[in-house]
Amino acid sequence: MSDSRSLLLVSLSLLAIYPAIAGIVPPVLDNGQRSASSLNPFDTSNYGKLQLDNGLARTPQMGWNSWNFLACNINETVIKETADALISTGLADLGYIYVNIDDCWSSLLRNSKGQLVPDPKTFPSGIKALADYIHGKGLKLGIYSDAGSFTCQVRPGSLYHENDDAELFAYWGVDYLKYDNCYNLGIKPQKRYPPMRDALNSTGRTIFYSICEWGEDDPALWAGKVGNSWRTTDDINDSWASMTTIADLNDKWASYAGPGGWNDPDMLEVGNGGMTYLEYRSHFSIWALMKAPLLIGCDIRNMTAETFEILSNKEVIAVNQDPLGVQGRKVSSAEETGCSQVWAGPLSGGRLVVNLWNRCSNSVTVGAKWEVLGLDTSTSVSVRDLWKHENMAEKVAGALESQVDPHDCKMYILTPTTSHSSI
Ligand code: GAL
Repeated sequence: MSDSRSLLLVSLSLLAIYPAIAGIVPPVLDNGQRSASSLNPFDTSNYGKLQLDNGLARTPQMGWNSWNFLACNINETVIKETADALISTGLADLGYIYVNIDDCWSSLLRNSKGQLVPDPKTFPSGIKALADYIHGKGLKLGIYSDAGSFTCQVRPGSLYHENDDAELFAYWGVDYLKYDNCYNLGIKPQKRYPPMRDALNSTGRTIFYSICEWGEDDPALWAGKVGNSWRTTDDINDSWASMTTIADLNDKWASYAGPGGWNDPDMLEVGNGGMTYLEYRSHFSIWALMKAPLLIGCDIRNMTAETFEILSNKEVIAVNQDPLGVQGRKVSSAEETGCSQVWAGPLSGGRLVVNLWNRCSNSVTVGAKWEVLGLDTSTSVSVRDLWKHENMAEKVAGALESQVDPHDCKMYILTPTTSHSSI
């Protein structure tokens, strides 16, 4: 389908489900972070237009990655045990299928043929054997390299070795490449990242391409044609301050996400111990609404029941994986304090996801008026609470309001039950 035709279809379907986009009820952004002339909060003009069409990432990728919990303490046993745990916990059945090895899997030097070599101490059986093991469980294997002369942990990088390395990854049976940005010799990412895309494409194996250039050169503006996702920020750490800052930074690029290519605000910290239960629930709720990759970053072999409850919330996952694939965004924020925030976005079937988020340490009432959500004032909706797993009310009109505990985030799906449009 041509770009313009697919854009037209998307626009029409969005108009049908989301009158705000038609300008019938202009949505209000009152968080003071962007001027009216910058990004319209419901602007979908870039939706689906730029995305790399390699058949992957129709919805954001889901899986696990070694970095947040293990950093360089990885080996083939941990990776296999994690794959086993994805199956035994049921997380794989919920969509978490990529098992992604991050930095430190390779030896410090290439071999005499110039090939990357798995570290013989930690990956003695090699990556092909690991891929076979992972595939035997119905899962997919991800690996990591760097668009520079070294990885961030000073293993050999793939710059100027793109074809050889891509061929090796394909030969091993790798399904996903995270491609980092260290030791980049000052060369623009727009020059360094496409060669690996082309090298992956020419292997004939379908390999997810995850661009990790930390948002330095505004990748949303160019990376959609290059990769299936692109990091929009520096690394997350396991703290409320980091997570909230990153959410706000990622929000700016919402209009550039869509099936085939996603903004990546970095991997999940849920379960790593630096945030409270409610903070992790907020983290997961906002990542899901933002159509962020859901890459678990904790030790799922030993996770608590609370961690599992968050990561396995099917209703929240379904928002993330909704086929419409429009990134939800911040639509209002209490003017001075920024405490009460409303994040929202359209879902398939004319529904809306609405997160009422308390960013401060006192309990607050967070309210979303219909005009902020882009709903016609005469519309009634039914409301589903995705954390309580309850239908709240059948005919809510005018606004949705709730008392929200400090650092908690309520998450709802609104389904219009009546719409008395004047048209
Ligand atoms: C960073 C990257 C992290 C992790 C780390 C490994 O550049 O953003 O996600 O991959 O390198 O060294």
